[in-house]
Amino acid sequence: MGLKVVVVDFGGQYTHLIARRVRELGVYSEIIEPENLQTSLNNLDTGGVILSGGPRSVLEPNAPTINFNLLSELDIPVLGICYGHHLLAKGFGGEIVKGSLREYGRTKVKVINRENLFHGVPDELWTWMSHWDTVVKPPSGWIVTSISEKGIITSMTDNKRFYSTQFHPEVSHTEYGYRILENFLKRICRIEPWWSPGDQISSIIEDIQNKVGKEEKVICAVSGGVDSVTTAVLVSKAVGDRLYCIFIDTGLLRKNERQNVENTLKNLGIKNLIVIDASSRFLEKLRGVKEAEQKRKIIGEEFIKLFEETAAKIENVRWLAQGTIYPDRIESGRTGKHAALIKSHHNVGGLPEKVSLNIIEPLRDFYKDEVRMIARKLGIPREIWARHPFPGPGLAVRIIGEVNEEKLEICREASNIIEEELVKSGVYDNVWQAFAVVGDDKWVGVMGDERLEGYIVTIRIVESIDGMTADWHRLNYDLIDRISRRITNEIPKVTMVTYAVSSKPPSTIEPC
Ligand code: XMP
Repeated sequence: MGLKVVVVDFGGQYTHLIARRVRELGVYSEIIEPENLQTSLNNLDTGGVILSGGPRSVLEPNAPTINFNLLSELDIPVLGICYGHHLLAKGFGGEIVKGSLREYGRTKVKVINRENLFHGVPDELWTWMSHWDTVVKPPSGWIVTSISEKGIITSMTDNKRFYSTQFHPEVSHTEYGYRILENFLKRICRIEPWWSPGDQISSIIEDIQNKVGKEEKVICAVSGGVDSVTTAVLVSKAVGDRLYCIFIDTGLLRKNERQNVENTLKNLGIKNLIVIDASSRFLEKLRGVKEAEQKRKIIGEEFIKLFEETAAKIENVRWLAQGTIYPDRIESGRTGKHAALIKSHHNVGGLPEKVSLNIIEPLRDFYKDEVRMIARKLGIPREIWARHPFPGPGLAVRIIGEVNEEKLEICREASNIIEEELVKSGVYDNVWQAFAVVGDDKWVGVMGDERLEGYIVTIRIVESIDGMTADWHRLNYDLIDRISRRITNEIPKVTMVTYAVSSKPPSTIEPC
């Protein structure tokens, strides 16, 4: 194993992005809380530290910080980004002023010193910034390595092992951002690329084999999404027929989903698949329920109840395999304990602790795109690993108001048409999610000579990196037209199609 890089999280919106970029550059990285820095540095496998951005100001009382004595004692390179840049300035005696205006967006930067961090980078580059405070004087003995057009210090170094940038090299809007991070890893930390998600498969499998006793069985809830299917395949490679997969058909799934999952798991050599058809049970529970949170709660509870009932019938089960992935586990500033509840999430990776089983989470250290790479390497078909994320409560969160058979059918068929057209035109892989939404509002239509009060279907297509923020996708008019015509022609009772043009924030991606 090579050396890893730890990203100290000060609550910045790009913290996960920093860790992902480092991994993309072939170096394993982990996100840690500032108070855990000492533990990480004591482990001899840390070869570099990155201090993330954050929403606070280092000038505020009680602003989060790190132990500077510790950083000074150890010979480990440090890169401070934005808040991390201010923190290094403050910690080593530089001067920072509180800005009265937030500088946000693209800023041109002139590079003064092209050694190390800026090696191979041109004299001028566009960067991405988002900050109030500014370093006006670097710590004594440090040098300024770049400035903005307005003369603001945009990077500095002690010329030994501390480096910092006001801008965000991890963001794609920063030109040469990759190069800058690569320079930090290779030239400053002296770590060569050594890590890739696909190479971890054998050690993941070995790890599971070391945990699960020879006679013990494992259960796994599969939804058809890439996380749960990949989890199931990894576990089955480790324990063979002692894996029991449970697939609950809630009746809220995408078109042909159940059949696809059955076929896929069978083709991948998973023998014990228990399929529960619970559509009528879920629909019954949801009857008359209009409120979004209520729907989510009912579905989550019912799912767990059914799963427990089914699992109880299998003898000698000691383990529960879950498709938890890294972002589910690591809180960042925005998703942390103090964030307001926007929606109560439910997914099959999140069964409750109530299930008194030991937990296996083979994907707990991986990001979604890394899970996709592992899935590909395992031979899981493209339709699974390249598929858009689908929420645990399924189509119920895409149906505004009561969920009933009629609206479900419309939502399922319309979503399928949207997906088919996007795949055909090559747009599917470039967007985060694309689906139909159905509510109770009606629109008068003319079908032949008949007047018909039909449903309104809203097309929702968004671009996003992680689902936390999203922009609506500018789909070309011809394609919107084709999708709209197909929906009104092929689905009875739909008389109007609209296109959702709000980004997140303020709108969430799913309507409920
Ligand atoms: P929102 O609607 O909150 O969605 O903007 C953000 C992302 O999360 C997905 N989502 C869920 N995923 N269980 C899940 O596993 C859920 O209950 C759930 N609700 C929303 C949503 O599809 C989007 O990608």
